[in-house]
Amino acid sequence: MAVVTEVDHPLIQHKLTILRNKEVGTKEFRALVDEIAMLLTYEASRDLPLEETTVMTPVQQAQTKQLAGKKLAVVPILRAGLGMVDGVLQLIPAAKVGHIGMYRDESTLQPVEYFVKLPEDIAEREVFLVDPMLATGGSAVDGINALKKRGATSIKLLTLVSAPVGIKTVQAAHPDVPIYTAAIDDGLNEQGYIVPGLGDAGDRLFGTL
Ligand code: PRP
Ligand code: URA
Repeated sequence: MAVVTEVDHPLIQHKLTILRNKEVGTKEFRALVDEIAMLLTYEASRDLPLEETTVMTPVQQAQTKQLAGKKLAVVPILRAGLGMVDGVLQLIPAAKVGHIGMYRDESTLQPVEYFVKLPEDIAEREVFLVDPMLATGGSAVDGINALKKRGATSIKLLTLVSAPVGIKTVQAAHPDVPIYTAAIDDGLNEQGYIVPGLGDAGDRLFGTL
Protein backbone atom coordinates (compact mmCIF):
# COMPACT_ATOMS: atom_id res chain seq x y z
CA MET A 1 0.00 0.00 0.00
CA ALA A 2 1.35 3.42 -0.96
CA VAL A 3 2.38 5.52 2.00
CA VAL A 4 0.61 8.84 2.49
CA THR A 5 2.57 11.60 4.17
CA GLU A 6 0.54 14.59 5.32
CA VAL A 7 3.22 17.25 5.53
CA ASP A 8 1.69 19.35 8.29
CA HIS A 9 4.64 21.62 9.01
CA PRO A 10 3.43 24.88 10.64
CA LEU A 11 4.61 26.98 7.68
CA ILE A 12 2.64 24.79 5.29
CA GLN A 13 -0.51 24.92 7.43
CA HIS A 14 -0.26 28.70 7.71
CA LYS A 15 0.26 29.20 3.97
CA LEU A 16 -2.52 26.76 3.13
CA THR A 17 -4.96 28.71 5.31
CA ILE A 18 -4.23 31.85 3.30
CA LEU A 19 -4.48 29.88 0.04
CA ARG A 20 -7.95 28.59 0.92
CA ASN A 21 -9.28 32.12 1.50
CA LYS A 22 -11.58 33.01 -1.40
CA GLU A 23 -10.51 36.65 -1.17
CA VAL A 24 -6.91 35.82 -2.12
CA GLY A 25 -6.16 36.95 -5.68
CA THR A 26 -4.16 35.31 -8.47
CA LYS A 27 -0.79 36.88 -7.67
CA GLU A 28 -0.77 35.84 -4.02
CA PHE A 29 -2.31 32.45 -4.85
CA ARG A 30 0.52 31.67 -7.30
CA ALA A 31 3.19 32.71 -4.81
CA LEU A 32 1.69 30.51 -2.09
CA VAL A 33 1.35 27.44 -4.34
CA ASP A 34 4.99 27.93 -5.29
CA GLU A 35 6.12 28.16 -1.65
CA ILE A 36 4.07 25.15 -0.47
CA ALA A 37 5.35 23.08 -3.41
CA MET A 38 8.89 23.92 -2.32
CA LEU A 39 8.19 22.86 1.26
CA LEU A 40 6.57 19.60 0.06
CA THR A 41 9.63 18.94 -2.11
CA TYR A 42 11.84 19.25 0.95
CA GLU A 43 9.91 16.38 2.56
CA ALA A 44 9.50 14.28 -0.60
CA SER A 45 13.24 14.40 -1.26
CA ARG A 46 14.16 13.27 2.26
CA ASP A 47 15.05 9.72 1.12
CA LEU A 48 17.14 10.62 -1.93
CA PRO A 49 20.32 8.52 -1.79
CA LEU A 50 23.65 10.13 -0.92
CA GLU A 51 27.23 9.16 -1.70
CA GLU A 52 30.51 10.06 -0.03
CA THR A 53 32.67 12.79 -1.57
CA THR A 54 35.38 15.21 -0.55
CA VAL A 55 35.56 18.98 -0.85
CA MET A 56 38.37 21.41 -0.15
CA THR A 57 37.13 24.10 2.23
CA PRO A 58 39.21 27.27 2.83
CA VAL A 59 40.53 25.43 5.92
CA GLN A 60 41.11 21.82 4.87
CA GLN A 61 39.70 18.87 2.98
CA ALA A 62 36.29 17.72 4.26
CA GLN A 63 34.69 14.29 3.96
CA THR A 64 31.13 15.09 2.87
CA LYS A 65 28.10 13.79 0.93
CA GLN A 66 26.39 14.55 -2.36
CA LEU A 67 23.25 13.29 -4.08
CA ALA A 68 23.76 9.97 -5.82
CA GLY A 69 21.75 7.70 -8.01
CA LYS A 70 18.74 8.57 -10.09
CA LYS A 71 18.23 12.04 -11.50
CA LEU A 72 14.90 13.74 -11.07
CA ALA A 73 12.04 14.81 -13.32
CA VAL A 74 9.14 16.99 -12.26
CA VAL A 75 5.95 16.39 -14.21
CA PRO A 76 2.93 18.68 -13.70
CA ILE A 77 -0.59 17.62 -14.64
CA LEU A 78 -1.80 20.62 -16.67
CA ARG A 79 -2.99 23.12 -16.00
CA ALA A 80 -2.91 23.49 -12.24
CA GLY A 81 0.20 21.36 -11.74
CA LEU A 82 2.19 24.05 -13.58
CA GLY A 83 1.87 26.23 -10.51
CA MET A 84 3.98 23.77 -8.49
CA VAL A 85 6.88 23.32 -10.93
CA ASP A 86 8.98 26.33 -9.91
CA GLY A 87 8.71 25.39 -6.25
CA VAL A 88 10.23 21.98 -6.97
CA LEU A 89 12.90 23.49 -9.23
CA GLN A 90 13.96 25.96 -6.56
CA LEU A 91 15.25 23.01 -4.51
CA ILE A 92 16.20 20.68 -7.39
CA PRO A 93 17.28 23.01 -10.21
CA ALA A 94 18.79 20.21 -12.33
CA ALA A 95 15.47 18.35 -12.63
CA LYS A 96 14.05 17.97 -16.13
CA VAL A 97 10.42 18.94 -16.70
CA GLY A 98 7.78 16.85 -18.48
CA HIS A 99 4.13 17.74 -19.05
CA ILE A 100 0.89 15.77 -18.93
CA GLY A 101 -2.16 17.61 -20.25
CA MET A 102 -5.41 16.41 -18.72
CA TYR A 103 -8.74 17.92 -17.72
CA ARG A 104 -11.77 16.55 -15.91
CA ASP A 105 -14.92 16.29 -17.97
CA GLU A 106 -17.30 18.42 -15.92
CA SER A 107 -20.27 16.05 -16.19
CA THR A 108 -18.58 12.64 -15.88
CA LEU A 109 -15.61 13.84 -13.74
CA GLN A 110 -13.50 11.48 -15.88
CA PRO A 111 -10.03 12.76 -16.85
CA VAL A 112 -9.38 13.43 -20.56
CA GLU A 113 -5.73 13.28 -21.68
CA TYR A 114 -4.77 15.77 -24.42
CA PHE A 115 -0.95 16.05 -24.27
CA VAL A 116 2.07 14.11 -22.98
CA LYS A 117 5.68 15.20 -23.42
CA LEU A 118 8.30 13.70 -21.12
CA PRO A 119 12.10 13.71 -20.92
CA GLU A 120 13.48 10.92 -23.17
CA ASP A 121 15.20 9.21 -20.25
CA ILE A 122 12.11 9.24 -18.00
CA ALA A 123 12.64 5.53 -17.23
CA GLU A 124 15.94 6.37 -15.50
CA ARG A 125 14.59 9.27 -13.48
CA GLU A 126 12.82 9.58 -10.18
CA VAL A 127 9.57 11.38 -11.06
CA PHE A 128 7.73 13.93 -8.92
CA LEU A 129 4.22 14.09 -10.40
CA VAL A 130 2.66 17.37 -9.20
CA ASP A 131 -0.96 18.50 -9.11
CA PRO A 132 -2.44 20.73 -6.37
CA MET A 133 -5.76 18.82 -6.17
CA LEU A 134 -6.37 15.10 -5.58
CA ALA A 135 -10.18 14.88 -5.71
CA THR A 136 -11.70 11.67 -7.14
CA GLY A 137 -8.16 10.54 -7.95
CA GLY A 138 -8.98 9.93 -11.62
CA SER A 139 -6.46 12.48 -12.96
CA ALA A 140 -3.65 11.27 -10.71
CA VAL A 141 -4.28 7.60 -11.58
CA ASP A 142 -4.28 8.37 -15.31
CA GLY A 143 -1.23 10.63 -14.93
CA ILE A 144 0.66 7.81 -13.23
CA ASN A 145 -0.54 5.40 -15.95
CA ALA A 146 0.84 7.77 -18.60
CA LEU A 147 4.22 7.86 -16.82
CA LYS A 148 4.41 4.09 -16.34
CA LYS A 149 3.40 3.45 -19.97
CA ARG A 150 6.51 5.40 -20.96
CA GLY A 151 8.82 3.50 -18.65
CA ALA A 152 8.85 5.44 -15.37
CA THR A 153 9.30 3.09 -12.41
CA SER A 154 9.99 5.45 -9.52
CA ILE A 155 7.17 7.94 -8.99
CA LYS A 156 6.03 10.16 -6.12
CA LEU A 157 2.79 12.17 -6.17
CA LEU A 158 2.87 15.66 -4.62
CA THR A 159 -0.46 17.42 -3.99
CA LEU A 160 -1.60 20.37 -1.91
CA VAL A 161 -5.12 19.26 -0.95
CA SER A 162 -6.41 15.67 -1.08
CA ALA A 163 -9.79 14.04 -0.55
CA PRO A 164 -9.76 10.69 1.28
CA VAL A 165 -11.47 8.99 -1.68
CA GLY A 166 -8.77 10.26 -4.07
CA ILE A 167 -6.05 8.90 -1.82
CA LYS A 168 -7.78 5.49 -1.68
CA THR A 169 -8.21 5.41 -5.45
CA VAL A 170 -4.52 6.14 -6.09
CA GLN A 171 -3.46 3.64 -3.44
CA ALA A 172 -5.62 0.91 -5.01
CA ALA A 173 -4.41 1.56 -8.57
CA HIS A 174 -0.77 2.35 -7.79
CA PRO A 175 0.30 0.91 -4.43
CA ASP A 176 3.95 1.64 -5.31
CA VAL A 177 3.46 5.43 -5.52
CA PRO A 178 3.93 7.38 -2.27
CA ILE A 179 1.73 10.45 -1.82
CA TYR A 180 2.89 13.69 -0.20
CA THR A 181 0.09 16.12 0.56
CA ALA A 182 -0.22 19.32 2.56
CA ALA A 183 -3.77 18.49 3.71
CA ILE A 184 -6.32 15.70 3.78
CA ASP A 185 -9.76 17.33 3.63
CA ASP A 186 -13.24 16.03 4.50
CA GLY A 187 -14.48 14.81 1.12
CA LEU A 188 -16.09 15.88 -2.15
CA ASN A 189 -19.31 17.78 -2.93
CA GLU A 190 -21.77 16.84 -5.71
CA GLN A 191 -19.71 18.70 -8.30
CA GLY A 192 -16.60 16.73 -7.34
CA TYR A 193 -14.94 19.68 -5.60
CA ILE A 194 -12.91 19.02 -2.48
CA VAL A 195 -14.58 20.30 0.70
CA PRO A 196 -13.60 22.56 2.27
CA GLY A 197 -10.84 22.65 -0.38
CA LEU A 198 -9.74 25.83 -2.10
CA GLY A 199 -11.99 25.90 -5.17
CA ASP A 200 -10.82 25.38 -8.74
CA ALA A 201 -7.03 25.46 -8.51
CA GLY A 202 -6.47 26.02 -12.25
CA ASP A 203 -8.90 28.92 -12.40
CA ARG A 204 -7.47 30.55 -9.28
CA LEU A 205 -3.88 30.16 -10.53
CA PHE A 206 -4.52 31.51 -13.99
CA GLY A 207 -7.31 34.00 -13.30
CA THR A 208 -9.86 32.22 -15.49
CA LEU A 209 -12.70 32.28 -12.97
C1 PRP B 1 -8.11 19.64 -11.50
C2 PRP B 1 -6.85 19.34 -10.73
C3 PRP B 1 -6.62 17.89 -11.02
C4 PRP B 1 -8.03 17.36 -11.11
C5 PRP B 1 -8.33 16.62 -9.84
O1 PRP B 1 -7.85 19.82 -12.83
O2 PRP B 1 -5.78 20.17 -11.09
O3 PRP B 1 -5.90 17.64 -12.20
O4 PRP B 1 -8.89 18.47 -11.26
O5 PRP B 1 -9.55 16.00 -9.92
P1 PRP B 1 -9.73 14.42 -9.87
O6 PRP B 1 -8.87 13.92 -8.76
O7 PRP B 1 -11.19 14.25 -9.61
O8 PRP B 1 -9.33 13.87 -11.21
P2 PRP B 1 -8.98 20.31 -13.87
O9 PRP B 1 -9.65 19.14 -14.50
O10 PRP B 1 -9.86 21.32 -13.21
O11 PRP B 1 -8.14 20.94 -15.04
P3 PRP B 1 -7.29 22.31 -15.07
O12 PRP B 1 -6.14 22.13 -14.12
O13 PRP B 1 -6.84 22.40 -16.48
O14 PRP B 1 -8.19 23.44 -14.66
N1 URA C 1 -10.11 20.26 -9.07
C1 URA C 1 -9.96 21.47 -8.47
O1 URA C 1 -9.32 22.37 -9.02
N2 URA C 1 -10.53 21.64 -7.26
C2 URA C 1 -11.22 20.68 -6.65
O2 URA C 1 -11.71 20.91 -5.53
C3 URA C 1 -11.36 19.44 -7.27
C4 URA C 1 -10.79 19.25 -8.49
